[in-house]
Amino acid sequence: MSTEDDYFAHHASEPFRFGERRRKRGFWRAFLESFAYLPPFNRMFGKTAPSYAESYWYCMGGLTFFSFLLLILTGLVLTFFGPTWWIGTKAGLVTKSMHYWSAQAFFFFLFLHIIRVWLTGAYRGKRWVNYAIGFVTFFLSLGENLFGLLARGDWESQFVSMHSDDMLFTVPFLRLISPENFTSALIIHVALIPFVLVVLIGVHVTLVKLQGIARPL
Ligand code: HEM
Repeated sequence: MSTEDDYFAHHASEPFRFGERRRKRGFWRAFLESFAYLPPFNRMFGKTAPSYAESYWYCMGGLTFFSFLLLILTGLVLTFFGPTWWIGTKAGLVTKSMHYWSAQAFFFFLFLHIIRVWLTGAYRGKRWVNYAIGFVTFFLSLGENLFGLLARGDWESQFVSMHSDDMLFTVPFLRLISPENFTSALIIHVALIPFVLVVLIGVHVTLVKLQGIARPL
């Protein structure tokens, strides 16, 4: 079977070669679709996507994952240089902003991902396990977000920690944790929760790879 016959039947009427597609649809469209299912980049990761997954909605989990990688990368740099650097130097402030905006992107794409999972009914059958893993990941991410705010070390952070300290003090078990304890908040934010998140997200993405993408309802 030639390579041309070998790709999805629903693309059989599409022009195959890059030059041909560029003439028909313009450079950018031809360039972008190359990343999805046509040469030269198709099967880059030894993988093909089913036709129903060729939508931006199905990219939201991947974009969440990409934002998470950015969070880890910038977070490692911030942890390495420490609070004096991230509040007191230009490079530190830029890295801190990148970390902050990656977190915004993470939650933005995550919400869209959850909407797509609901609307396509992707939680059905054995995928309920991956839905449950995603569910736990989501709530842990919210906790990670809170401890990130507490560990920032600026005025807003101190203000929030003071108030959450007052609130937690009224809850029997949670009063064991003090949000005003900067070291504790920092360790929870840079080590404890991220470790669990890396494991959970790793299992989540591996399960998607093993189970494939669900057919929409
Ligand atoms: C926290 C970060 C998360 C990351 C990085 C992530 C990443 C991904 C990726 C890359 C996929 C492949 C398909 C796609 O992109 O749409 C996927 C599928 C899936 N995700 Fe997530 N996800 C996250 C959170 C969640 C949450 C919160 C839920 C639900 C509560 C969830 C439930 C699912 C399910 C059920 C699938 C299988 C979809 C299918 O087979 O069509 N995920 N996830």
